[in-house]
Amino acid sequence: METRILKVPLAGKDDAVLGRWATAPDGTPDLNTWEVPSPPPPPSADPLAPLREAAHLLRTTPVPVAFPTETVYGLGADATRSDAVRGIFAAKGRPADNPLIVHISDLSMLRRLLTPSPPQQQQEHQPAPQPVSSPSSPSPQSHSQPLFTADDPIPAIYHPLITRFWPGPLTILLPRPTPSPLAPEVTASQPTFGARLPASALARTLIALAGAPLAAPSANASTRPSPTAARHVRDDLRGRVALVLDGGACAVGVESTVVDGLCVPPAVLRPGGVGIEELRSCPGWEGVVKAYEDREHAVVDGAAAAAPRAPGMKYKHYSPRARVVLFEAGGRGRKGVVGPADDAAADGEGDPGFVVREGALLGADGTEMGCRLLDVDLGEDVRAVAHGLFAALRELDSLGADVIFVEGVSDGDDIAAAVMNRLRKAASEIRA
Ligand code: TXA
Ligand code: MG
Repeated sequence: METRILKVPLAGKDDAVLGRWATAPDGTPDLNTWEVPSPPPPPSADPLAPLREAAHLLRTTPVPVAFPTETVYGLGADATRSDAVRGIFAAKGRPADNPLIVHISDLSMLRRLLTPSPPQQQQEHQPAPQPVSSPSSPSPQSHSQPLFTADDPIPAIYHPLITRFWPGPLTILLPRPTPSPLAPEVTASQPTFGARLPASALARTLIALAGAPLAAPSANASTRPSPTAARHVRDDLRGRVALVLDGGACAVGVESTVVDGLCVPPAVLRPGGVGIEELRSCPGWEGVVKAYEDREHAVVDGAAAAAPRAPGMKYKHYSPRARVVLFEAGGRGRKGVVGPADDAAADGEGDPGFVVREGALLGADGTEMGCRLLDVDLGEDVRAVAHGLFAALRELDSLGADVIFVEGVSDGDDIAAAVMNRLRKAASEIRA
């Protein structure tokens, strides 16, 4: 199978071209409805042409399509069709007991997934894409209109989270109705499904054009670092997917935070783009606990750790080919062994937010040792570290590194928790 990369013009630059939120009566954006423009009359070029082509593939074939989100690139398939969902597991080499996150374009689509109905009916209920007349779209952060009704099928515990963090890097676990419109392969025999409304307008428009929720894991081959650029997907899945939509580098760089609000107290199953401290500031989430472990035999919130509750967290993950040695923040680190690193080497295309510099490794007596040193500085800001992390691991791999020494960041309850979680899983060795 040939793997094509299709660039989506204006993605990330002029999102209004890709679609917009409907407007609530008070003028604020209405997360219930994401509207997608109709194709312009000829001879005008349609900026959504790559997305319409991808959506056509998603509707008519069992081969998944890779697309960008604000976290990482996803490998998407119609979540209501078993043949399509099986295509994801086959392309990635993913274990079948690891459930997939369901990506929705708006809250109306989510509510349909919470209503008992078999998969076929789900297809018939899809609204046709709506034309967009005005290019401007109000900021989704500012809605003051109540989004939820008293008998809303979306559980009340999630209302403050949705209002604050959606669209964005947060996945919530929801009860799977019986019968469910979702293909059973999506949930891997869990009684719940994970749902996410991405901040990426490109992703929401693709979902709306496909007319179905998209099940999408990260678009890496199983065990590899998640892809944050289209070329990373091609490197891993060339010949196994037909199409990669290229929307540039992912803004966040680590995956979504996965939370379970159906249990008491509510729990974080995977740290990610939304910080635990931010969750804690939401009503009903003050006592949120961490139900994941970073280290073997870790003690999680005062109790001996049980098996991780997000099945995916037990697998080897995020690993480049090179051996990763992680120095925990505050440890002895690498001080005193690194010589000048001043030969800037190009990092290739895209915007990973770092350069690779080449220098020499010095022995204790100051003499050069017979190996090549590549140095990557992701900066002091932990958001920049998250943004560049996976791309840096992949870049060092492609430059032929044998060992990657990583200096950890302090474990905060912000995005640093996600950075250190990924690094501890990628590491063959952790040094204090
Ligand atoms: O940012 C993201 O979340 C990216 C982008 C593409 O949206 N997706 C992603 O998917 O990271 P994936 O499949 O690589 O990771 C999904 C995680 C796994 O750890 C999985 O076990 C957990 O979410 N998960 C999904 N559904 C679940 C469920 N019903 N119960 C418990 N854990 C679930
Ligand atoms: Mg993944």
